[in-house]
Amino acid sequence: MGCLFGTILCHMATHSALSAGSKPPWSNRALGFVPTPPEIVAFMTALATPPPNTAVRVLEPACADARFLTAFLQNYGDHHRFVGVEIHAPTVATTKPHLHPAIKLIQADFLLWDTDERFDVIIGNPPYGIVGDASHYPIHLLKERKAEYKRRTATWKGKYNLYGAFIEKAVRLLQPRGKLVLIVPTTWLVLDDFALLRNFLAERGRVEVFYVGRVFPKVNVSAVVLRFTANGQGLALYDLADGTWRSVGSDSSIHPDVEKSVYRGELIRFETPMWLAFEQAGVPLGELVHIHFAARSPEFRKSGLVRTVPQPNDVPVLTGRNLKARQIDYETCYSGWWMRREDAPQLRRFYAQPHLVVGHTKGTRLVCAVDWRGYPWREEYHLIPREGVQIDWTALERYLSSEPIQEYLQKLYRDFTPHLTKTMLERAPVPPKSVFR
Ligand SMILES: C[S@@+](CC[C@H](N)C(=O)[O-])C[C@H]1O[C@@H](n2cnc3c(N)ncnc32)[C@H](O)[C@@H]1O
Repeated sequence: MGCLFGTILCHMATHSALSAGSKPPWSNRALGFVPTPPEIVAFMTALATPPPNTAVRVLEPACADARFLTAFLQNYGDHHRFVGVEIHAPTVATTKPHLHPAIKLIQADFLLWDTDERFDVIIGNPPYGIVGDASHYPIHLLKERKAEYKRRTATWKGKYNLYGAFIEKAVRLLQPRGKLVLIVPTTWLVLDDFALLRNFLAERGRVEVFYVGRVFPKVNVSAVVLRFTANGQGLALYDLADGTWRSVGSDSSIHPDVEKSVYRGELIRFETPMWLAFEQAGVPLGELVHIHFAARSPEFRKSGLVRTVPQPNDVPVLTGRNLKARQIDYETCYSGWWMRREDAPQLRRFYAQPHLVVGHTKGTRLVCAVDWRGYPWREEYHLIPREGVQIDWTALERYLSSEPIQEYLQKLYRDFTPHLTKTMLERAPVPPKSVFR
């Protein structure tokens, strides 16, 4: 395989405008530009092997310098049809003169691009980002197109993410039995915003997920390569994050960590028999408690109950920084806001009662502590017993802080999301006897 990758890298150097060594003119971060490392291009190209002695139609959406098409061409020949679609006009103009003549570049918004052509192979690295959102990865430039994207994308849910819309559109452009090979963030495996996407994929074909982890230098994204085969069936999940993807010669040389002959769109996790048994041995936490999020900053602001200079008997509005493992710092004011503790229930009734607070921003580590005093919180999950359930809070705090639970979360969800999600928490198993009063 070293040989195959070597070939790809060598020919990419010939045809890629990137090889010129100058700063790429398409470094347009506002459109989600992040170049794919050549070794990943090589790995993904190997996953997209076309049938022998056939000419196939290959598409690279969001192609920038068309490095996937170039690699495919160098590996499998120039007798195929090659189409790349890129929104950024200067990139298209700069790239075109450097490309092999068999590669056709189209300057268009892939999500709005209309074509009757269907493809046997769709391969690439779409942009990642939440359109027009004031988040960590905003795609401000496409803000005015958001309504149109939503209208055209059946799987759009919640804030969604541009890459989800790219997956759907690409699947719709596949020939029967066609293959899609895309590198995307891990979040779609478990977040609720991607439930429709997971169903969409499950209904239409076979889903194979190659977990590669943090392969983009200086970019804080954990990634998977999704290989989707139209009209196939089932799910396979491979753990290659230890770098084994670098030495994979063909996918027949690796074995899935999780395999399902029928896949219905459920969460995609590293479900080994041992961790499934661990999960099934307890009651899901979500059946014992309601999980609420704290009141948000605008609600505090609007309430008129908070002030920046404390008055006698005021308490600080607590944030994630006040929460430590099995301990709450009630003294330090990180939020910059103070208020009367007695007023806290006006924002959320549950603040008044002793309950368990679970950290939202501590990776997939579960950090929790009982708030016995009923302070106001601006962040974190708050666990309130369901009707008729009486919880021993100290026991639940101890159990949820224990190593087996930490390991369960780590092993099943790795670094798929930057935060512990409500769904992960709801599914965490609790041996009921240990926490009932
Ligand atoms: C993550 S980069 C990938 C670039 C290249 N394929 C690679 O792997 O190195 C994403 C590219 O998508 C382009 N892009 C962003 N939104 C797009 C859209 N709606 N349609 C087509 N291209 C888009 C950006 O300009 C950028 O070049």
